[in-house]
Amino acid sequence: MAFNYITAAEAASLIKHGYNIGLSGFTPAGTAKAVTAELAKIAEAEHAKGNPFQVGVFTGASTGDSCDGVLSRAKAIRYRAPYTTNADFRKAVNSGQIAYNDIHLSQMAQEVRYGFMGKVNVAIIEACELTPDGKIYLTAAGGIAPTICRLADQIIIELNSAHSKKAMGLHDVYEPLDPPCRREIPIYKPNDRIGKPYIQVDPKKIVGVVETNWPDEARSFAASEPLTDKIGQNVADFLAADMKRGIIPPTFLPLQSGVGNIANAVLGALGRDKTIPPFEMYTEVIQNSVIDLIREGRIKFGSACSLTVTNDCLQDIYDNMEFFKDKLVLRPSEISNSPEIIRRLGVISINTAIEADLYGNVNSTHIGGTKMMNGIGGSGDFTRNAYISIFTCPSVAKDGKISSIVPMVSHLDHNEHSVNVIITEQGVADLRGKSPKERAKLIIENCVHPDYKGILSDYLKLTDGKSQTPHAIQASLGMHAELSESGDMRNVNWEKYK
Ligand code: COA
Repeated sequence: MAFNYITAAEAASLIKHGYNIGLSGFTPAGTAKAVTAELAKIAEAEHAKGNPFQVGVFTGASTGDSCDGVLSRAKAIRYRAPYTTNADFRKAVNSGQIAYNDIHLSQMAQEVRYGFMGKVNVAIIEACELTPDGKIYLTAAGGIAPTICRLADQIIIELNSAHSKKAMGLHDVYEPLDPPCRREIPIYKPNDRIGKPYIQVDPKKIVGVVETNWPDEARSFAASEPLTDKIGQNVADFLAADMKRGIIPPTFLPLQSGVGNIANAVLGALGRDKTIPPFEMYTEVIQNSVIDLIREGRIKFGSACSLTVTNDCLQDIYDNMEFFKDKLVLRPSEISNSPEIIRRLGVISINTAIEADLYGNVNSTHIGGTKMMNGIGGSGDFTRNAYISIFTCPSVAKDGKISSIVPMVSHLDHNEHSVNVIITEQGVADLRGKSPKERAKLIIENCVHPDYKGILSDYLKLTDGKSQTPHAIQASLGMHAELSESGDMRNVNWEKYK
């Protein structure tokens, strides 16, 4: 079939006020860029005329500025799910302008299929190749693309030449059946391939193809610094010790690691520790550090949803596809983050907390209990199902004015039943097999910053010390209250709660 080649502006004009748009990509990798940038202009023009113009946005995870950024600034988003990291989106959400549904990434595609969020009117899919019979070859991410392509009334393709056609072999596209027909997802090793390298659609649904040359808008990370290096080293030492004790098999287990500087430091330290054998990743995002370790032979295989790497690194992967083709696979997010597979493979999860409490509950999403930071991302998918679930964070934030360990978290994402280990630059609290009171002791001894050890020990003295989970309920958010009042948790005065 001959496709209709159109401009990004023409493609955007197909999207109407009130539509839900589904986007390819996962993080800025593989996300639609050109059409959403034009859509923002349409929204601004309509608003200037006094007309409403807003859409619902369904994505795999975060996007780049040419999507969440421009659309938020243009006030063009009514509803969005799931995760995002964009600062302008964050401002809009925390000022009540956008309805944000922060769900687990593994659940996004199925919740769209189940009809929880309404219809997908238009799917905008970034591709590196499209065949006349409707085979869409994705670029640097799997995301929810297979599902939204199937469900959408219309599909717009962004054929992006900034991505090499060599991305064609990276993908393993597989969509599970829905209950009551679902069977097991037959992945038994991180490198198992169970699907096709493309998405097959009815070519008649493709209403326009937009040719672009727009590189991914991936961030680069800050150079390593002593604090994150120390956290990374603590994680590596902990895992090496667990392997020595026989808790982790000598062949090691697949790792999941979050995004950001701490994740990079953790991988760096694991790469250097030669007591840990070359290992595999079953994760959602592959960052530059993973690619470096694949080159060094320290990582044998990476299964993920996206290549969230710098553009230089991505080009290097494309240029050396002969080397990488049997060492990488990209999957849809419901497979990369599938609880079933994570549990089966025995994935060790390593994610970052905003705050954790004395009993091992973790807040990954909300500052001060009310303001959205980014979202839960895949941290819940992995934590709840991991062989060992680890959370890392610096022991303090904002120059020591905030302790990351508090009596009670101000928002709960991962509860004490799912969190195995907490690691800060101070040390490791191994909570496995411990009762809540034992956990509190370990966390104060090993993870809390010295400025806060006395404060948190004194908090426990306000409790009966005997209950299953001792709390002085009135004082449990006292450190947060103090932060709002004086700007420094260290000023908390427990006397007023006695
Ligand atoms: N209270 C208030 N602010 C806090 C805080 C706390 N307890 N802890 C950290 N912060 C602030 C930091 O000071 C920083 O502020 P700034 O942006 O003004 O500098 C900000 O929160 C981010 O903290 P930082 O230490 O830079 O962390 P990060 O970039 O590693 O991000 C998370 C940490 C938790 C926000 C991030 O990992 C995330 O969004 N996680 C949820 C999703 C997830 O886990 N995905 C994993 C699967 S990929």
